[in-house]
Amino acid sequence: MEERLQKILSRAGVASRRGAEKIMSEGRVTINGATVRELGTKADAARDDIRVDGVRVRPPRETVYLLLNKPKGVVTTRRDPEGRTTVMDLVPPVSGLFPVGRLDVTTEGLILLTNDGAFAERVAHPRYEVARVYHAKVRGVPDPATLARLRSGVRVEGERLAVDDARVLKADNNAWLELKLHEGKHHEVRRLLEAVGHPVSKLKRVALGPVTARGLEPGQFRPLAPHEVRALRAGAAAPTGDRTPRPPRARPRPAAGRPTRVRRSRP
Ligand code: URA
Repeated sequence: MEERLQKILSRAGVASRRGAEKIMSEGRVTINGATVRELGTKADAARDDIRVDGVRVRPPRETVYLLLNKPKGVVTTRRDPEGRTTVMDLVPPVSGLFPVGRLDVTTEGLILLTNDGAFAERVAHPRYEVARVYHAKVRGVPDPATLARLRSGVRVEGERLAVDDARVLKADNNAWLELKLHEGKHHEVRRLLEAVGHPVSKLKRVALGPVTARGLEPGQFRPLAPHEVRALRAGAAAPTGDRTPRPPRARPRPAAGRPTRVRRSRP
């Protein structure tokens, strides 16, 4: 991304913006070997070789934290060899951005994207217990004993899978369940519910730690607020009580307006 050279130099801690202008006018700054005195000059700190008095300047990359409500049918990957729409197509083209963890292509819901590797590792690691909350529509209605089995753990293909909590949100012939987990094993929710005889027909991730999907229609994203970044880094628990998102409605309401829906096809 191109920025004014003064801004790059001040972000790198070389000088204040005023100070950077003085350094430039003194002919001490080069971009890719050429001396730059022009104050409006722009450069790309990630691509260009910027030097002051011959010393390379590397400003820290600005970190970006986005929360996307992934629609069904979108793939959680940086690039899809089959050319399907990916989560990257729904957010701005920020350098170094990648999705944190993965949602199945048929799962809807919250996914974080960042260019901060340490943050991603922390949020994704089960040790930090960032709670993931899912709403799952299942075949039939699990009885209390089945919900207890989900909590105590079920062996599936040699692997023990368990949820931290499971409850029925609403039920007629089939049920919507709410499940809380703090890890993200491959197809974990689907495999677990299949194993107890209640296969999933719809799956949505509605909360990640303290962050919920409220106000974000599928396909919309927003930047995380600094306090949300801090809470996720600290491994905050899922919202509780009346802050837990309501079970999904049959039909989504029209987009709320404020968050941006980006329809973008990348070159
Ligand atoms: N568990 C699943 O089975 N699928 C998802 O997409 C997320 C959790």
